[in-house]
Amino acid sequence: MFQQLLRIISRKRSENLSQDHVFHRNFNNNYPLIERGEGVYLYDTQGVRYLDGSSGAVAVNIGHGVQEVVNAMTKQASHVAYVHTLRFETSLQHELASMIASLAPGDLDTVYFTSGGAEANESALKLARQYHLGNNDQEKFKVISHSISYHGNTMRTLSIGGDQKRKELYDKELHGGVIHLAPPYGKRSDFENLQEDEYVDYCLNQIEKKILEEDPETISCFLIEPIVGSQIAAFPMPDGYLKGIRKLCTQYNILLVADEVMTGFGRTGEMFAVNHWRVTPDIITFAKGVSSAYAPLGGMIVNNKTIQTIKDKWDGKFAHGYTFSGHPVALAAGKANINYLLDKELVPNVKQKGRYLRKRLSELMEKFTCIGDLRGRGLMLGFEIYKNKKTREPFNQSQKAAEELNQICIENGVVFYPGQGLIDQQPFDHILVAPPFVITDNEIDHMVDLLEKSLKIFERRFK
Ligand SMILES: Cc1ncc(COP(=O)(O)O)c(C=O)c1O
Repeated sequence: MFQQLLRIISRKRSENLSQDHVFHRNFNNNYPLIERGEGVYLYDTQGVRYLDGSSGAVAVNIGHGVQEVVNAMTKQASHVAYVHTLRFETSLQHELASMIASLAPGDLDTVYFTSGGAEANESALKLARQYHLGNNDQEKFKVISHSISYHGNTMRTLSIGGDQKRKELYDKELHGGVIHLAPPYGKRSDFENLQEDEYVDYCLNQIEKKILEEDPETISCFLIEPIVGSQIAAFPMPDGYLKGIRKLCTQYNILLVADEVMTGFGRTGEMFAVNHWRVTPDIITFAKGVSSAYAPLGGMIVNNKTIQTIKDKWDGKFAHGYTFSGHPVALAAGKANINYLLDKELVPNVKQKGRYLRKRLSELMEKFTCIGDLRGRGLMLGFEIYKNKKTREPFNQSQKAAEELNQICIENGVVFYPGQGLIDQQPFDHILVAPPFVITDNEIDHMVDLLEKSLKIFERRFK
């Protein structure tokens, strides 16, 4: 009887193994099966090598296969893999929080841990609301954001972000209470003749008008990517814009939340992107680069005034929490990753390599008529893809130009982060280039050569 049962189980297992049980991101795609990663390269089971020109989802900042991080995670898991942070703590929680607080600007001194970016933003939205309720501002609940931005894939973060394609399925259930502003991306509209500072003043005036129209007493926070990542390919806020928003937020008692999920921990050549403009938000949210994706980790860094309200008005309790908040193995990855980042001086390296990468990419812009508008900071650069560069005529949306170009790149052994944006109802394609911080000049040359080879094929196919 027992033997028979074993035979049935074994038959079922072998049948199951030959069947595909994975709920894929896209059932029609063939994904290379990756076996190993080292530095800027990934290797599949056939031995094919891919240069990771986007650090995964702009996350593997220190590169693949760093043993120091793996060892730290293994050591922590062998001591204790998990504690419930509602009941217990680990010393790692204190160590990593104080490390992160020491790197953060101004009085952002207190760190809350999550497992990723959307959870981090959800936490910040709830904290902002609880802060205002604690101060008897009962009506403050609305969130301001840019209509071109990405803050996560949960229902609330999706409703606040601007990814129209991801949102369209959920029209009925996406919540209200969001004030969407046009991003300060004046090139496509009527503002091309304005100087940058005039344009920024114009935008800030429009924002103030909107705040007054909506009633400041109903607005809780402004959630903003200082350099917009996946939705518009590394588009930095113009000079003066963030400072102006900081001022408006202070004036109207709106918490400023900088979403540094993609930009945080050195990606743009500063530890946090807000440092480029010397702006201190009330909350910074982070994920990706905090652990270089060796483990799911994210969180928020909160300023003292917000924490004080939770302590004084809420008996010290933030009405929130996740099972995996402060997961010891993820924290071990975070601590080892940040030590590695600092010991190897990788953030200054980002500035240096970013300059070289920008130079090489701008040479490519000269050679091809289908790409242009190179922008970004550090090792977070982006460009747009056009049918006609002179008139900025985009490819037809259905041609999925960025996806197609990236697919050709993958066939040639390099991978980037493609996207499709929408400005003034005009769709356009873009590519984010964001390799790991450890990339060498030779590897940059190799990456750009592979992109060039792919662009030649792309131009032939799309002519
Ligand atoms: C700016 C920004 N915010 C939030 C998120 C969501 O992070 P996660 O996918 O870890 O939930 C992302 C992810 O790409 C992001 O780029």
